[in-house]
Amino acid sequence: MNIIEFADKDQLGKAAAAFIARTIESKTDAVLGLATGGTPIDTYKELIQLHQTEQLSFKQARTVNLDEYVGIDPNHENSYMTYMKRHLFDHIDLPSDQYFLPNGAASHLEEECLRYDQLIEDLGGIDLQLLGIGQNGHIGFNEPGTPFDSKTHVVQLDEHTRQANARYFSSIDEVPTHAITMGIASILSSKKILLLASGKSKADVIQYLERTEIHPDFPASALKLHEDVTIFIDREAGSLR
Ligand code: PGA
Repeated sequence: MNIIEFADKDQLGKAAAAFIARTIESKTDAVLGLATGGTPIDTYKELIQLHQTEQLSFKQARTVNLDEYVGIDPNHENSYMTYMKRHLFDHIDLPSDQYFLPNGAASHLEEECLRYDQLIEDLGGIDLQLLGIGQNGHIGFNEPGTPFDSKTHVVQLDEHTRQANARYFSSIDEVPTHAITMGIASILSSKKILLLASGKSKADVIQYLERTEIHPDFPASALKLHEDVTIFIDREAGSLR
């Protein structure tokens, strides 16, 4: 894992966008694995900026998102589909039939998981997977204890995670209890991985990630099994290193 520290989250967002842009420039039909949450918003802003001012084109790119809540419609204001449209897809030239998220409203969730794995395979695999990290070490919605050989699956959300995401809902009771997430094996099969962490609230988890041995109780430790992982943090997230 190659950890690079930036002065603040703006610098981190710029660097992450440039990293992603290099992937698309070197392979125009790259498959990008995308993430939601607070952390990548600056990165997406910068990508939109690069699209508008530097002609960065997503016309041939394909994207697959890590996860989606179960039980809410893709058009729901808090779905990850809506998040992706709001923060990225509506502002770039990525055709709408070239971005994919798991369908958390599917009537057969197990089949939906298999369909999603097949889709990723049919696209030729993920060239670059963008990740955030939860305070409990989760990646995607792979909560502590998730087996490292897991592919896309349905998960019950950890209470920590529901609390952390409650800020987007009017009350904690509205936060879905389940989600579909790519598994740890799906993430590790990406050719390259870029994990982002910013802010003081991530200082503990970054310190732990650096020092821990590889163990399913800390899902992000699985990244130590991959040979091409870059971690961008800001100074606050790096303050306990
Ligand atoms: P955050 O979430 O970017 O909102 O901190 C990251 C995560 O939980 O994976």
